[in-house]
Amino acid sequence: MRTIAIVISIFILPMLCSAEDTASLRDLATKRGMYIGAAANIRFQRDPVYAETLAREYNMLTPENDLKFHRTQPEKGQYRFDHGDAYIDFANQHDMQVRGHALIWHRSTPEWVRDATWTRDGLIDVMREHIQAVAGHYQGKLFSWDVVNEYFEEDGSMRKSVWSETIGADYMDLAHQYAREADPTAKLIVNDYGIANINKKSDALYAWVKGALQRGVPVDGVGFQMHVRADWKFGADEFARNMQRFADLGLEIHITEMDVRIEEPVTPEKLEQQANLYGNILRACLNQPSCKVFVMWGVTDRMSWVPWTFRGFNDALIFDRDFKPKPAYMQIKNTLMKDFHD
Ligand code: G3I
Repeated sequence: MRTIAIVISIFILPMLCSAEDTASLRDLATKRGMYIGAAANIRFQRDPVYAETLAREYNMLTPENDLKFHRTQPEKGQYRFDHGDAYIDFANQHDMQVRGHALIWHRSTPEWVRDATWTRDGLIDVMREHIQAVAGHYQGKLFSWDVVNEYFEEDGSMRKSVWSETIGADYMDLAHQYAREADPTAKLIVNDYGIANINKKSDALYAWVKGALQRGVPVDGVGFQMHVRADWKFGADEFARNMQRFADLGLEIHITEMDVRIEEPVTPEKLEQQANLYGNILRACLNQPSCKVFVMWGVTDRMSWVPWTFRGFNDALIFDRDFKPKPAYMQIKNTLMKDFHD
């Protein structure tokens, strides 16, 4: 009896399981020439299960916080690159790409910038020096940079920040120019949330990118963050039309920060709803030739910004707190496999 069981498990079972059943997400994504990634936390350095999952499942990572302005230049002229460098080393060891996030973001402006009084020229110097130092340090090592993160308000107006109010509307043009000079190979991305639908914000972003390209400002792509709720009514057709208008400008589409938060208590139905949303948004990306990047905002429900920000919501990622794959993981896998054969 024991011999029969051994024969079945060693010889028969492997024949029944295809290579794709055992494939990781990155195996399947690589086959179709796309990047599947996750925002990573520096804890990978001391958590072997986390590090192993990251390397096994993804061929791209985004440092979740460690390349932000307040982390890379917390005090004027004092740069910190040790954490950022660690992600690059890890990515190189595991043949992964790294998305740079983010050179300028109103929420990561350090106090020494935010609380001082600047002239326009003085603040332009701060921005240029920061971009030259940080994008320069990582020159040739990053897949892309989110240059100015979340430039727009919901109504399509320019977001009020020390950058916009001191420098004026052209601060994004300038930031892109400095980024290209500092790192000519990183793709320069305009990244924002709430732009999946055709609305005031995505219209404003579209108008900005179109104008920027006409002005000769370097822009390579648009990043759709995609922080959504599991019960969000996703309009696949509208998203497809929206992506297409950006693709028609010659831009890449990156899904940059997807997570799907669930209102507690978590139920099997809600996990299914979450899985479907992950699958449907990935499918929309797969159907758009310019969409080759699909990054989720974290790996495991053990580490996510969601419960700190949305009271009563949680479990937004595709691995649970014990790194077990959730239905959303299987849905992403099936979507990558199924469409591959279509
Ligand atoms: O983990 C601590 C917890 O121990 C502590 O009790 C709690 C108190 O507030 O804070 C927790 O840490 C917070 C962490 O998010 C949790 O994920 C930090 O204070 C908070 O600063 C940190 O915020 C980060 C946020 O950007 C601001 O930099 C998030 O990690 C990060 O996921 C989030 O990422 C942003 C993108 O950069 C841009 N798009 C939106 C996205 C989500 O806000």
